[in-house]
Amino acid sequence: MVLGVGGGIAAYKICELLRRLTESGHRVRVVPTEAALRFVGEPTWAALSGQPVETGVWDRVHEVPHVRIGQSADLVFVAPATADIMAKAAAGIADDLLTNTLLTARCPVVFAPAMHTEMWEHPATRANVATLRSRGAIVLDPAVGRLTGVDTGRGRLPEPAELFEAARLVLRRGTAEPDLAGRRVLISAGGTREAIDPVRFIGNHSSGRQGYALARTAAARGADVTLVAANVSLPDPAGVSLVRVSSALELAEAMEAERAAADIVVMTAAVADFRPVDSAASKIKKSGAAPAPLELVENPDILAGLVTTREREGTDQTIVGFAAETDDVIANGRAKLARKGCDLLVVNQVGGGRAFGTEDNQATVLGADGTVVDIPTGPKEDLADRVWDLVVERSPGRTP
Ligand code: CTP
Repeated sequence: MVLGVGGGIAAYKICELLRRLTESGHRVRVVPTEAALRFVGEPTWAALSGQPVETGVWDRVHEVPHVRIGQSADLVFVAPATADIMAKAAAGIADDLLTNTLLTARCPVVFAPAMHTEMWEHPATRANVATLRSRGAIVLDPAVGRLTGVDTGRGRLPEPAELFEAARLVLRRGTAEPDLAGRRVLISAGGTREAIDPVRFIGNHSSGRQGYALARTAAARGADVTLVAANVSLPDPAGVSLVRVSSALELAEAMEAERAAADIVVMTAAVADFRPVDSAASKIKKSGAAPAPLELVENPDILAGLVTTREREGTDQTIVGFAAETDDVIANGRAKLARKGCDLLVVNQVGGGRAFGTEDNQATVLGADGTVVDIPTGPKEDLADRVWDLVVERSPGRTP
């Protein structure tokens, strides 16, 4: 693969990405811009990649590098993608080795932008990002966080480990089109916590892994992803907007705020069915007497509510539910699908160490149209990709 490095301070983080890529067996040709070399020098890239490093088109001309490097790549990954690089790529300018490579590459191209918030939000950058996406490139939204100085905002480069995951997930799709490009996807993940008092809660075992796998794979297929995470302690996926919540009511509020913009909604979160009527303001103490009974009230059914709103508004949003069942998996799943009214229900069997907190998952996907698709045991990202296949089959979407 080609690792294009733009001239931004975040270039130093790309040394770690490069290390991860080469250690996992990828052959990486680093193509920095001249500006990138002001941040991290040529010997560093050459030593870490074990490949020659050039920035211009006038070195080793007999090998025609300005054409060959792009032509022979399986993936071109540009990080940090500066406003300048993306402007040149959008305009088709070819004034150095990296921009030439971008024009000759026929493989998937990923840009991981990093810049100050003002530059990211500037109409010129917005237009360039839209142009690149419309041509099939994957442009990962930058993360929100600390920027170069003391300022914070959107524009931070995602962590190298997550950039590595993004590169890996795009590479595993080979030359498949980014078939979720232009689609806005909203995913809930994790498990809610219903406060009993400031230190105790009613919760569940959901780790958030399946929802995060859906978010990562959707981003690798070009989707614009918002992930609402309830009490998840996994690293933030690259290119995904993250909203953190804790209780079922907070989750309901976040989904309500985001749902109108979404073409596809996937509810993987394990939502507590009940919450304490009152959450004590101070820690409940043992009094020596019998404990007071915990009075509970039912939480709203968020998934059913999303379906009702969709019916009322008459949109063509696709809504996917997840159900964890311990017994009578299919019969319970069918009844649940009918009750909730979603388009697809991904049913998996839990208990006995299956599904919660594990790396692997298996499921049966029930369609509102009566279809049944079995997904065999495998990594959660395989299951996620199968779910996206089924969503795309049902609603091919619009061309971006
Ligand atoms: N769900 C929801 N809001 C709730 C409960 C569940 O949106 N209050 C969603 C979950 O995110 C999931 C689907 O509904 O996508 C099924 O969740 P599950 O807990 O299996 O469903 P319940 O309605 O709670 O069914 P039961 O507890 O009776 O099995």
